[in-house]
Formats: sequence, C-alpha cells, structure tokens
Amino acid sequence: MENFYSANSVNNIEALVDKALRLKGDPFGDQNHKGKTALLLFFNPSLRTRISTQKAAQNLGMHAITMNADQGWKWEMEDGAVMKFNTSEHIKDAARVISRYADVVGIRAFPGLEDRDKDYRDEVMHAFMEYAEVPLVNLESSILHPCQSLADLITIKETQTKKKNKVVLSWAPHPKALPQAVSNSFLQWITKTDNEVVITHPKGYELNEEFTKGCTIEYDQKKAFEGADYIYTKNWSSYKDYGKILSTDESWMISQDKMKLTDNGKFMHCLPVRRNVVVADEVIDSANSLVFQQAENRVYAAQAAIHSLLSKTI
Ligand code: CP
Repeated sequence: MENFYSANSVNNIEALVDKALRLKGDPFGDQNHKGKTALLLFFNPSLRTRISTQKAAQNLGMHAITMNADQGWKWEMEDGAVMKFNTSEHIKDAARVISRYADVVGIRAFPGLEDRDKDYRDEVMHAFMEYAEVPLVNLESSILHPCQSLADLITIKETQTKKKNKVVLSWAPHPKALPQAVSNSFLQWITKTDNEVVITHPKGYELNEEFTKGCTIEYDQKKAFEGADYIYTKNWSSYKDYGKILSTDESWMISQDKMKLTDNGKFMHCLPVRRNVVVADEVIDSANSLVFQQAENRVYAAQAAIHSLLSKTI
C-alpha cells in the first residue's frame, strides 16, 4: 500500500482487518518502525481520530507530532498561481517540507459543502499524494474517512454471528449540515465484503452513485430495518442539492421500537453523536450498541494502516 486514502488503496481488506486484530491482541508486539515520526495535520476538530492515531503511532514505538493546521500558513492549492493574495505557502512546498520531518503524514480536511465539484476533487489529499515523499493517511477528507471505515469493519468482524449479514446504513436527522464522508466511506468498504447492504434515507438524500453501487435503497426506514443485523447510523447533507438540509424529520431518529424490527441488530455510529436527535439514549446505551468498541478499534485501524504503509505491505 502506498497511501491510505480509500478502500481502493488497499490490496486486501480482509488481510488488513486481520492485521488490525492481531495488533489489538498484542499492541506493542511489533516495533519494526520504532523511532519513526508520524505528523498529523488537523484542519478541523477531532477527538477520536486525533487521539487514536497518536496512540497507534506510539504503540508502534513511533513519535507523533500533531499540528492544528488551520493555525499554520494558508496554503495555495492552484498550480501556477500568482500568490499575491491571501495564501502564503503552496501546498506542494508544504508537502515536500513535511516529508523531510516525517515518515508518514496524516491529514484531516473537511469539505466546504458549497461547491460539490471542488469538494469531490479532494484537493488537499491528492496534492499530498502527488507532492509528498512519504505516505499519506487520510484522517477524513472532504469525501472519505477510511480510518473510521476500517475500524467499523474490524468491529463487525469481532461481533458477527452470521457469515453474511444484513447491514443497513440509516440517515438520521441533525441540526447542522454534515459531510457525506463517513457514509460514502462506509459504503465503499462494506460493499467490498460479503454482506447485504441496504441504505435508507428520506428522498433527496441519495448519495453519489459511485458509493451506492450494489446497494438497495429503501425509503421506508422501518421496512429497511426488518431482519437487519447491523444498523449503521449517520446524518449527511444532500449530495444532489449539495450541502443542504432537506429534512429534519424527527421520526427518522433511531429508537428502541425501530431496533425491535431488526434481528437483534447491533447499533453503530462513528461518534460524535447528538443524543436524542440522531439516536435515543436507550439505543446507544443498550447492550447492542457498538459505538465504544468502534471508537476503541480506531487505534488498531490506524496502527494497521501506518504499519502497512511503512512496511509497504497489504
Ligand atoms: N469518528 C471520528 O472521526 O471522530 P472525531 O471527529 O472525533 O475524530
């Protein structure tokens, strides 16, 4: 693997999940990259990604440097730009400089949710993959969140009781316009496994078809939940009417009554979550909730990804 940008970066997803589980069983057992440096740049807030990725690097015996990138020089993205306005450093220079300090770089850069074409070009990630001389870990870009999705697959592998599961991705209401990255990414990863995938959301919330290929879209949320083994919940803003909130319908919140329609289904969410808006307390606090296991597995997902990048395996 050269970069950990998306599910398509990984040659063998099952092997990467197994590697993460081996590392979870013995977090400090592999010190082959001891003394190397992971540089983590955050343009946006984070609890899980920031801490779990630092911990992952430290478990491997590495140093982790974290920077609030929004407090650094404003980067120019355009090739050939005459930089006489408000940008101070070209991203190609920043990428090359960082490569002299770090052995692997992680970046979080959210979308603006105003210009769909611009957001879906995922410019920061692609510029780094082009100009940096060290591998990139996508810590959530405008459109993808592979560290989260790998943790989600690890969690499903740990908890599944059937070989093939019915996995439902359910939209839920939220007062703010949120990116599509977690949902796109979950679909990109889960559709590469041997599971049935159903997506449920109000009309107008259809995701980019690149990510929904092979999935069933069911607009009746209760029907979608019938017999499900996993309910993965996430809010996202509209892809078609880009970045807009089209519905705040409270009846889409995940309730215990809806979970009763499932086959003793497990509840999943990437966190942070707005309790009693997205999901009822009784669901997230139930024995069937996997949210803290997902958060814990973020460490081993990042550890497996960083180790594979530095070892040039998987
Ligand atoms: N799930 C997730 O990425 O959490 P943070 O935004 O807190 O990193």
